[in-house]
Amino acid sequence: MTDKGGPLIYLDNAATSFPKPPEVVEAIRAALLAPASPGRSGHAASLAAARAIHQARKNVARLFGVEDNSRLVFTANITWALNLALEGLGLKAGDHILSSSLEHNSVARPLARLAAERGVIWERVPLDGEGLSDPAEFRKLRRSTTKLVVLNQASNVTGALAPAREIKEAVGEVPLLLDTAQTAGAMDLSDLGQWADLVAFTGHKGLLGPTGTGGLWLKPGLRTRPLATGGTGSASESLIQPDFLPDALEPGTANTHGLAGLAAGAGFILETGADQIRQHELGLATAFLDGLSQIPGLTVWGPQNPARRVATISVSLAGWSCSDLSSALEQEAAILTRAGLHCAPLVHQTLGTLAAGGLTRFSFGFFNTLEEIKTALTTLDKLARRKD
Ligand SMILES: Cc1ncc(COP(=O)(O)O)c(C=O)c1O
Repeated sequence: MTDKGGPLIYLDNAATSFPKPPEVVEAIRAALLAPASPGRSGHAASLAAARAIHQARKNVARLFGVEDNSRLVFTANITWALNLALEGLGLKAGDHILSSSLEHNSVARPLARLAAERGVIWERVPLDGEGLSDPAEFRKLRRSTTKLVVLNQASNVTGALAPAREIKEAVGEVPLLLDTAQTAGAMDLSDLGQWADLVAFTGHKGLLGPTGTGGLWLKPGLRTRPLATGGTGSASESLIQPDFLPDALEPGTANTHGLAGLAAGAGFILETGADQIRQHELGLATAFLDGLSQIPGLTVWGPQNPARRVATISVSLAGWSCSDLSSALEQEAAILTRAGLHCAPLVHQTLGTLAAGGLTRFSFGFFNTLEEIKTALTTLDKLARRKD
């Protein structure tokens, strides 16, 4: 509900998902009411807190189809998970890293720093004519010195899906670090354990958990250096960080409350089915794209084909800046969107929308309805005609 008592139309799920399922809210509430620090004490409440964290690990591991869930470590969000991988893999001067042209700053900034401070060579693979990542280009640009491929599985600006498995096949044994910020919970990822090398995720978007949760899964045989060391509740007699997972990469008291919520969010997805969630969201996206094609002066920046995208759609409207459009949508009909560069200046540079200050982004979630999409279309149409 808005301040004025009307319904709120939340179309900003790519930033963070809303609402959270009631199970998530309840799990966090119950964790907050428990007198416990997980894995630190032997009393029942502490053991229960550790079990809740274990449940989160098991649920997320199931979503990614990974067997050994101890190799899935929790971090504060995907930004920390990506940094843990990029900083900790021991990349050095002359090592070549390939990424797509659709990377978020959570990858672009660490890579820019590795290039500036360690002499790593970072190359971005151009998009094909339809704005999609092409496995053949990755194959072509791979060098003998390529040590890592980093891939945003779905753009948080255009919604374009990368053919991640085909890209992994194209680069062979070079490890692939996958950014699933916009895909985890929004589509079936249960084959990742078979072919991905490093999977980074965030808990508060499609996984329906709270902010402050995320993590990294590492394929057996891969190691990364911890960004920090400290207490783990294990091997406490030693001043050396334990080298077994997940403790090696999880120093300090875990975010018990957040992870209890993440366990419930991931549990909700397992019960509902990631395919069903994708079908619902793509149904909304298809209806929205159809309607947008009737609006004068409106441009969609991303693939039209639903099979090649997630339900994140960025637009520009002739005569409107992206921020004015976003504000007008909120004022007219309490529609919440996100305007600007979406922490992804490289994407806007590639699209040619950087100078204009970016785009207005609509992103749908499992709890959005067709009615809401229709209201968004009617409101956009009204605004398009107002500035005609
Ligand atoms: C593709 C992508 N990667 C990484 C991130 C960073 O997520 P977080 O802020 O949860 O670390 C985002 C957030 O919008 C994203 O869309």
